[in-house]
Amino acid sequence: MSIKISRKTGEITIKTANTMYVMARKYEDYLVHMYYGKNSRGVKYDYNYPITSFSPYHEEIGLEYLPDIVKSEFSFFGYGDFRAEALKLRDLSTGSDTTMFTFVKARKFAGRRNIPGLPYAEADDNTETLEITMRDAVTGCELKLYYTVFADCDVISRYFTLENKGKNSVRIEKCMMLCLDIPTKELDMINFPGAHCFERMYKRGRIMDGNQRIYSRRGSSSHHQNPFFMLCDPKATEERGAAYGFNLVYSGSYLSEVETEQCGTTRVLSGLGSDNFNYLLLPGETFESPEAVVTYSDRGIGQVSRNMHKFVRNHILPKDKFPLRPVVLNSWEAFYFDIDENVMEDFAAEAERIGMDMLVMDDGWFGKRLSDNAGLGDWYPNPDRFKNGLRPFIERVKAKGVKFGIWIEPEMVNPDSDLYRAHPDWILRAPGREPLQSRWQYMLDMANPHVIQYLKDSFKENLGGLPIDYFKWDMNRHLSEVYSPTLPPERQGEVGFRYMKGVYDLIAWFGEEFPDAMIETCSGGGGRYDLGMMKYSTQIWTSDNTYPYWRAFIQHGSTFGYPCATMSCHVANHNGSVNDPRQLEFGFRTALNGPLGYEFNVLAIGDEVKDTLSRQIKEYREYEKLILGGDFYRLLDPHKNGRYSYYFASEDNSEILLTYLQIPDDPKKTPNKLKISRAEVGATYRDTISGETFSGAELKKGITVISDEHGNYAKMFHFVKE
Ligand code: DGJ
Repeated sequence: MSIKISRKTGEITIKTANTMYVMARKYEDYLVHMYYGKNSRGVKYDYNYPITSFSPYHEEIGLEYLPDIVKSEFSFFGYGDFRAEALKLRDLSTGSDTTMFTFVKARKFAGRRNIPGLPYAEADDNTETLEITMRDAVTGCELKLYYTVFADCDVISRYFTLENKGKNSVRIEKCMMLCLDIPTKELDMINFPGAHCFERMYKRGRIMDGNQRIYSRRGSSSHHQNPFFMLCDPKATEERGAAYGFNLVYSGSYLSEVETEQCGTTRVLSGLGSDNFNYLLLPGETFESPEAVVTYSDRGIGQVSRNMHKFVRNHILPKDKFPLRPVVLNSWEAFYFDIDENVMEDFAAEAERIGMDMLVMDDGWFGKRLSDNAGLGDWYPNPDRFKNGLRPFIERVKAKGVKFGIWIEPEMVNPDSDLYRAHPDWILRAPGREPLQSRWQYMLDMANPHVIQYLKDSFKENLGGLPIDYFKWDMNRHLSEVYSPTLPPERQGEVGFRYMKGVYDLIAWFGEEFPDAMIETCSGGGGRYDLGMMKYSTQIWTSDNTYPYWRAFIQHGSTFGYPCATMSCHVANHNGSVNDPRQLEFGFRTALNGPLGYEFNVLAIGDEVKDTLSRQIKEYREYEKLILGGDFYRLLDPHKNGRYSYYFASEDNSEILLTYLQIPDDPKKTPNKLKISRAEVGATYRDTISGETFSGAELKKGITVISDEHGNYAKMFHFVKE
């Protein structure tokens, strides 16, 4: 049983396999936060601090309960708590933005409550959900806080509904699903800022006094700051110390805040910030928030990552559908927009000969898409390029013995397209202003249900019933002038949120319409690398940057919050690098961090290279299950000295895959000790690559890998228990 509601003490306790979360009802009305941490007996906790400075209070309670001091389970704007708030609500009849929701009741139930129109973590009946009802006496609004407990991976999710049961309209001006008061401000933050082609660059630093935010205002979770972040004890390492992980099951603009305050505590908030969001709630209407997730471990940062990996694999990814992934050959870096059906056919035949599973025809197959300045929105095959349409072409490709995947970018339109000429009013644009372009494209107004219906009809007409095995769903610009002509002025603050709901509606439709097709999402590479997208797409194109050098950093950062199974990794050809055996080897070993693919012209390479690729794919097949589902341990951080090392372990420790990647030259040939904590002391392991044997104790103490004199060096070990 993971949730206990004690009427006697007023305490509500949530337990996962290794953590405990406690809140309590105080002075009848108020819900305070007591504890979140290790699940251990005798742990002491409190909600209060002995400070009274300048803090307003309730006359009938007195100084014992100061809204500005206590750890709050959920926080509201304007009524004595000066810290950053979770919920800000404005009563439109008076203009007041002060609210105070008080406790009404708590109940628990098996399973979870689904969130209509939004992605959420899947839960079976072994999961429990806590529902807390609160009410604001003045507005009459009813708030229901939900905590769904994923005990198997020590994750708790948080989301809420707000029903306007009052007589007047209100506006939600800030909506943070997660509110957590941590009883210390001695914390490091680990977060993942970046840019296009440089996503998820690991950063760690001590939190400062004040309010620190990580956010996106771009209408997508963005390359620029991933919504996953961690807080940890400044002494925490990969294997030791207290650490928290936070994320959102959402793909649009977001805000997370980490705020320290006078008692030496820290408030963490995560959700939809007021920069890009407000929401009108008329009497009788209900708002459903997206979902936020939190995990904790006292066993280090690595364990927080593994909690998240397990959570994503078991509860987010469409897992049962595609346990193994195709090794793809993607046309983009080989031909860019120059798609020719005969060349594609030869490409497919060569892919099959080499041992690849799927041809993915990227951008350039539709409308007048000869370059990136035309065609988006016109999802019919270019008649000059596909003389008899797509069906016979796909059939010929598949007759070569490979599967077939296709690229789409449904949310966008080029001004030079039939769609835009017919519906110039279907884009996001600010009244009276010339819409901005990015890559010659506009964003379709995905908040407009007619646009969604049109896209469904268009994809059904052009692609419905075709034997497509895979879609690459791209999104190549960010949302500016976020204004929908279909909504009244007072609802314009909802456009970004409604845009995301439109995207989720369409991508869920794709899942139903093409039930056997896998979806890989992409946004100029990894610009929408988040749990919202992962609910629909089995893997994500990690980055447009395919240089192994940079990939080491990008992939390393991605592993903190996301399982390697989500990280699409391709071997590319940079200035002939595939003809240099060392570089080809380094590119391949770097790509063995996730589902493998290739992205260059295999018609223009020699037989020797082709043989190498065939051997690579066979080798990948040996490790595939471990890469997609093994427990992941980081050993060396590439940001320190250009060495990235990690390993995967099978659940029973019988198989371990260790990778060492070295980017710079090292004339000194430095030794690197790589400790495999998951090796079993009494066991003997054989490395199937070198044939050497090692004792488990030796691996645990650490095996030594000597750096190579020259950079771009990779070494792998595949230990199998004898
Ligand atoms: C951006 C993607 O990240 C690339 O892989 C490729 O699909 C292009 N878009 C196509 O326009």
